[in-house]
Amino acid sequence: MKSPTRRRLLKGAAGAGLVVVAAPALLRYAAAQSWRVGDPFSLGVASGAPRPDGFVLWTRLAPEPQSINPLTPGGMSGGDATVGYEIANDPGMHDVVRHGEAIAEQAFAYSVHLDVRGLPPGRPYWYRFTSGDAASRVGRAATLPAPGTALERLRFGFVSCSNYEHGYFSAYRHLADENPEFVIFLGDYIYEYIEERRPVVRRHSDGIEAATLPTYRNRYAQYRLDPDLQRLHAEAPALVTWDDHEVQNDYADKWSEYFDDPEQFLVRRAAAYRAFYEHMPVRPILSRPEGPAMRIYDRFTFGDLIEISLIDGRQYRSREACYGPPDKGGTHLETDASCPERRDAGRTMLGFAQEAWLNTGLAHSQAQWNLIAQDVLMAQLRIRQDNADAFSTDDWDGYPANRTRLLKRIQNTRVSNPVVIGGDAHSFFANDLRPDFLDPASPVVATEFVGTSISAYGPPYDVTARALPDNPHIHFFESRRRGYVAIDLERSHMQVRMRMVSDAADAKADIATLRTFAVEGGRPGVVAA
Ligand SMILES: [Fe+2]
Repeated sequence: MKSPTRRRLLKGAAGAGLVVVAAPALLRYAAAQSWRVGDPFSLGVASGAPRPDGFVLWTRLAPEPQSINPLTPGGMSGGDATVGYEIANDPGMHDVVRHGEAIAEQAFAYSVHLDVRGLPPGRPYWYRFTSGDAASRVGRAATLPAPGTALERLRFGFVSCSNYEHGYFSAYRHLADENPEFVIFLGDYIYEYIEERRPVVRRHSDGIEAATLPTYRNRYAQYRLDPDLQRLHAEAPALVTWDDHEVQNDYADKWSEYFDDPEQFLVRRAAAYRAFYEHMPVRPILSRPEGPAMRIYDRFTFGDLIEISLIDGRQYRSREACYGPPDKGGTHLETDASCPERRDAGRTMLGFAQEAWLNTGLAHSQAQWNLIAQDVLMAQLRIRQDNADAFSTDDWDGYPANRTRLLKRIQNTRVSNPVVIGGDAHSFFANDLRPDFLDPASPVVATEFVGTSISAYGPPYDVTARALPDNPHIHFFESRRRGYVAIDLERSHMQVRMRMVSDAADAKADIATLRTFAVEGGRPGVVAA
């Protein structure tokens, strides 16, 4: 299905001194069955949101992926377009079990969210899209095992914080090499800002902070052109949530980092969420955005082995404690004396609807392991400041009442093997979670692992390292390495490998294991493996 005409036409036109003009209407392409300007599948393919009987298949038609003309996103124009799809039992696409047509919606930048249903459970599939004379690469998808089915083992990875300007995405490539069953994206998939203080490895192409629909789209398109990220998406189904940089640093619900007018900020958030939707393999029935609202929290059950609650830590949270001009937007450190509001029981990280949904899911789960996949550090991180304890307002430390409520609930409902994973910190952490971190008698009720960034620079090592003696529940911390976390799960044992790349500034970086930890079934808490 290679284009027989495109290159030749371009070459011929150049030779003749002619200018090739992008045809304005997709219908012209479709009628001609020929993509003369660019590959419509330049942004690759992705699968995600797996169910026992299906999954979502994603692509976005973008023959000119970096076009920021708001009238022709990705170089496309005209109404909704139709693409063909094939789903097969084999990577060679010989044994096709399903084929048909899907809609690339003009309203969503010609993205496709094909919600495939009615397939047998617990099986791998391969798929591709076609349009005229163009075909996408082949991607891998999978249906979940049927609920309750005995499942002995599962390998997956989790990732966060891929700042394009801070480095290459070698970590994504090495994770793909491990053939995980799926990958969990915990947020900061893109960075909206432009680096102005620290070294830049490769530039955000437009040189401006993303804040509007065309600029967010352009950012996602640039990231999705990265070959390592594109390959990971093609080879492993994705479960996706977000953190702050998909919209703006350290925002909380309608509150921006800079005390903008909330109504204005919601306009920006709507654009950012819409661009996120346009580029992610999420279920349209659940996640299609409506203005500034978009639901992404969801639950995935892998037989009787593990249930994953995928959490949204940004959209519903209370604004940061003791937030206010001139210098208290976003992350700042507060003590009990400087900020009694932080401990207010009315403050929420999850929003009360999502918290109730999470509680119900945990209470009813029949799975051996229960994973809460969310964006930021859950464990307390106590920093001594002028003889007082200070806490960051942007992490769960900014919402301690919500954290205590959740951990007590986990304890009281005897959730089976609860494990929390997070990102955002650009650091590895391995932590015991207690309902009251300041009380040594408070029991360990869950285990937490935080993955370092794919490429984004880490915070100063010394500040946190110095605080570790005051935080004995933190077994391990390392902010000087970039990488990801790989998990090998068995019924009675979870192995957690912290994987680090040799140098994020090197496009060909090597990979190695920094540390390996474990959790034993029936015994919450970090164990050295
Ligand atoms: Fe980040």
